[in-house]
Amino acid sequence: MRQVIVAGNWKMNKTVSESVEFVKELQEGLGFDLKLQVLVFPPFTSLYSIGRIVDKSRIGFGAQNMYFEKAGAFTGEISADMIKSCGGEYVIVGHSERRHIFGESDEVIGRKVKSALESGLKPVVCIGEKLDEREAGKTEQVIERQFYKAFEYVQEDMIEDCVIAYEPVWAIGTGVNATPEQACEAHDFVRGLLEKKYNGGVAENFTILYGGSVKPGNCKELFEKNGVDGFLVGGASLKVVSFLEIIKIVNNMLV
Ligand code: PGA
Repeated sequence: MRQVIVAGNWKMNKTVSESVEFVKELQEGLGFDLKLQVLVFPPFTSLYSIGRIVDKSRIGFGAQNMYFEKAGAFTGEISADMIKSCGGEYVIVGHSERRHIFGESDEVIGRKVKSALESGLKPVVCIGEKLDEREAGKTEQVIERQFYKAFEYVQEDMIEDCVIAYEPVWAIGTGVNATPEQACEAHDFVRGLLEKKYNGGVAENFTILYGGSVKPGNCKELFEKNGVDGFLVGGASLKVVSFLEIIKIVNNMLV
């Protein structure tokens, strides 16, 4: 069974007190029969405080990034064990902002995925093409390269702890989401890669999220598509009202 996930990527937003207030409010709002996994990805500075108040049966959480080394002279970096020590269970790896603003390579992302898994964190691995790549007809080529590099060190016994978020870069923070058809096509392609590298069972059970300008007004039509197993939400996850609305819409679509 594929796990449905609605995750909020807060990016560089919210102080500790704002984060705690958000999680408390969200928790209160989740007092219904929840059939999916809700995740939040706060900034590093809020992880510890959230770990102390979160009800993990309702909300899981993790970090937006990590470094692949376990410890040492890596000024400014955070290890998987540090995230775990705050209670985090997940980590976003390879977000397009890490790739394109901070210059993270496919190789680095592969090492981060490996390190996260070895430390017992579940990586949410982001892949997706830029606008010029889509316009040049290179979408599948880019996704394929990112996929194979990200999972280079992941054997079949570890793959079930991973989640993929397909996030076309041109849709992130732009208000222009991929159409349900575009999302579906990319998700099918990724599932095909999972089948090729692993097997049909892995592909069938794997959770692939869509991310890029998801909001209450478009999540229904996106989630209706086969193969879209939930969302990684940026902007609309910053307010409890809109994040909760997305969660409720998706939850109501589950039997
Ligand atoms: P957005 O961001 O929903 O604001 O487009 C998504 C993401 O970057 O994960």
